[in-house]
Amino acid sequence: MPGKRNMKLTEEQREMLAGKYGKGAAMAMRIQCAVGEGFEAERMVPVSRVHISLSAQNADIWFTEKMTEAGAAARVIPTVNPGYCVKYFREKGWLAEEDSINMRRTEAAYTKLGANMTLSCTPYLSDNRPGFGEICAFSETSVTVFANSVLGARTNRESAMSAACAAITGFVPEYGMLLPENRLGTVLVKVSARVDSAIRFAMLGLCGKKIGRGIPVFTGLPDEIDTESLIALGASLNISGSYDMFHIPGVTPEAPDEKAAFGGRAPVRTVELTEQDMNEAFALYSHEPGDSVDYVILGCPHYTCEQVRTAAEFLRGKKARVPVMILTSRTVIAEAEKSGIKEMLEEAGADLIPDTCVDEKYCFQCLKGKNGATDSPKAIYYMENFGMSMAVRDMKTCLSWAVSGKPDSSTPMAAM
Ligand code: F3S
Repeated sequence: MPGKRNMKLTEEQREMLAGKYGKGAAMAMRIQCAVGEGFEAERMVPVSRVHISLSAQNADIWFTEKMTEAGAAARVIPTVNPGYCVKYFREKGWLAEEDSINMRRTEAAYTKLGANMTLSCTPYLSDNRPGFGEICAFSETSVTVFANSVLGARTNRESAMSAACAAITGFVPEYGMLLPENRLGTVLVKVSARVDSAIRFAMLGLCGKKIGRGIPVFTGLPDEIDTESLIALGASLNISGSYDMFHIPGVTPEAPDEKAAFGGRAPVRTVELTEQDMNEAFALYSHEPGDSVDYVILGCPHYTCEQVRTAAEFLRGKKARVPVMILTSRTVIAEAEKSGIKEMLEEAGADLIPDTCVDEKYCFQCLKGKNGATDSPKAIYYMENFGMSMAVRDMKTCLSWAVSGKPDSSTPMAAM
C-alpha cells in the first residue's frame, strides 16, 4: 500500500492519507506517496514554496478540475506558469473564440485551487523567490534549474501534477535534489569558447549532448555573470539535455570553488567545450533566416526588467516594421508601465505581453510559414513543433532586423 511499505509518515500525513482533510487532499497524498515509493524516499517533508507549470492543455486542466471537485485547496499558495493572454491575442484577431476555452478553464481551475495567478515562468525573480536551502516543489525545467543552481533552493523537477499535489498537501517526498549528496557536481566542463553574453550562455547550454548526464560544473566562465545569462544557460541546458542543477565555481552558491562543487570527489567525466562545439550545437537549433523578417519573439523564459529596459533603449527613436512580441510577467509590465518603458516600447512598435508561453500554437499559428527571429533557442525548440521557423540571434540583432524588416548577412556566432 502506498505510504506504508517504505515511507515513514507523520500522524498528520497518515490522517491526510486516510481522508481527515478531505477527499482531494487524500488523493494528492496518495499520489505523492506513490511517487515517493518510486524514488525510495524515506519520508515526506514540509514544502514552503510551489510553482506549477500549468500548460493550458487538457490533461493538466482535467487533473486540477478533478482535484478541486474533490474539495482540494492549496495549503501552500502556488505561483503558476504562463498559458496565453486571451485578451491580447483576441484583440489581435489571432485567436479564435473556441481556442480561448482552454485558457479560461485553466484560469478557473487554478483560481479555485487557490493559486496566485502570476502566469509567468520566472517566478524566482520576485513573486516566488526561495531562499538558500528552502525546500520547494517547482515544476517547469527552467525554473527548477535556476532555483537549485543559482538560489541554492532544493527542488526536484516536479510535474505540473505533482507540484499541484505538493501545494495541496504542503509536503513533498524527500528524494533526489532535496538531499545534499545528490547536489554535488559530477561532470567537469572546461569551457574555452567565448561566453560573455546571455545569448552565448544560451548557446553553451545547447551543448548538453556533449556534456552528457549528470550535474555539470562549468569552469572557464567569467567571474561575474548576470541573472539573464544564468537564466539562459539553465533554459538551454534543458532543451539539449535534462539537468536539475549546474555549478559555476565562485558564482553559484553551493560551489565556492571547484573542489567544493564536487564535494571533494573527482569528477566522473571531464568535457572540453570549444567555440566549434558551440557553433555546432547552435546550428542544430537556429533556422536559417529567410529573405525577410516578419516577426520577432523575445522572452522565453520571460524577460526580466533589465532585458525589457535594454530592448526599450535599443529601440529608442526607431520603429519596428514587423510585430515585436516581448513575453514577460505582469510584475515586470507593471514596473515598465511605472517607468514609462512600456510606452517607449509601444511607440517603437513592440508589445509587452503578459501571461503567455511560446508553446501555445493557437496564439501564434497565423505566423506559420513566415520568417521569425528570437533570442531564445528554447522558443524555436518548442515552436518548430507547430511549424514555426525562426532564426536565433541576440536581442539587439533581432530588434534591428525588426526595424529593417530584413536580416543582415552577418555570421551568426561571430556577430554575437
Ligand atoms: Fe517560459 Fe514557455 Fe519559454 S514557460 S521558458 S515561455 S517555453
